[in-house]
Amino acid sequence: MDLSTTYLGFKLNNPIIIGSCGYTYSVKDIKTLVDNGASAVVLKSIFEEEIVWEMETNIAKMQRPMTMYPEIYDYYDLETIEDSVTKYLNLISDVKKEVSAPVIASVNCVSAQEWVPFAKRIENAGADAIELNIFVMPSDINKTSQENEHAYFEIINSVLSEVKIPVSVKLSYYFSNLAYMIKKISETGVKGIVLFNRFFEPDFDLDSLTVTPTNVLSSPSDLGKSLRWIAIMSERVNCDLCASTGIHDGKAVIKQILAGAKAVQIVSVLYKKGPKVIGEILDEIKLWMEEKEFASLDDFRGRLSQSRSLNPAVYERAQFMHYFSEKF
Ligand SMILES: Cc1cc2nc3c(=O)[nH]c(=O)nc-3n(C[C@H](O)[C@H](O)[C@H](O)COP(=O)(O)O)c2cc1C
Repeated sequence: MDLSTTYLGFKLNNPIIIGSCGYTYSVKDIKTLVDNGASAVVLKSIFEEEIVWEMETNIAKMQRPMTMYPEIYDYYDLETIEDSVTKYLNLISDVKKEVSAPVIASVNCVSAQEWVPFAKRIENAGADAIELNIFVMPSDINKTSQENEHAYFEIINSVLSEVKIPVSVKLSYYFSNLAYMIKKISETGVKGIVLFNRFFEPDFDLDSLTVTPTNVLSSPSDLGKSLRWIAIMSERVNCDLCASTGIHDGKAVIKQILAGAKAVQIVSVLYKKGPKVIGEILDEIKLWMEEKEFASLDDFRGRLSQSRSLNPAVYERAQFMHYFSEKF
């Protein structure tokens, strides 16, 4: 049974990549994940703000307007932020000494400003690839969608001109024309697109009347959005597609391969079940392939993509026409 696949130009033993999260922030945890079967890891993201902070002089830091990156002042202990860049580069080189699986560094960014040359330091530290987690929240009522979308291309193009290692982009679905954006981004020279990132969602606590985070971890029912868009876009893009969000078992991986994904990323299921779940997912895939008599992932990859579908409209159906008229 051949579970191997290729992603960003790397030959992977199987399609299970560990997505960026707290589990991919120490050599020990990453070793455990790889020992349990992960074929590649995306390191916990370093934030653009952390990089810029390290680059600035003390005077520039004092002069930085408080409004520029408001979250940074809430989120970080300014005593330790200074060390985070060195820590990140050390993490990359230390992990590379310990594991043979590809190590993908991750940068959380919103602009193509001062931080971009840092991509070269990531490459020099030994990362096999860089995943850009770009998210410009489309909440500014004075900005056009073109202005927001332009930022993505600026970031991607400037990082691509900085490094030789493969670059991938993890996206959200908040675009006015998602298919167009995915297609255009795939033509920039990135080697992969990850669909989709998952975001902090606010909820209200009705006792304290405060805003609280909710649904931090995904559930299997969150699979649909990424499944639909992998199916719509696979075979229409110029790079690999990697599925992310709501992948909790072997069946979900199989579905994403049927949709056309080259690989998948898992995170929440690790938090729920621990690293041994990777082996369980791989066993489930093997069992299904045996039953269906598929010898490799290529035997069924993309079989249910929109472009190969006999009923392509089903992927674009948005309303519950049938269900509106029935009780179920
Ligand atoms: C606790 C936690 C921490 C995360 N940290 C990061 C991060 O640093 N960078 C990033 O790009 N994504 C981060 N993510 C998002 C995941 O990489 C992933 O895209 C998302 O959780 C969807 O996958 P899942 O449904 O398997 O959890 C984080 C997710 C969780 C739950």
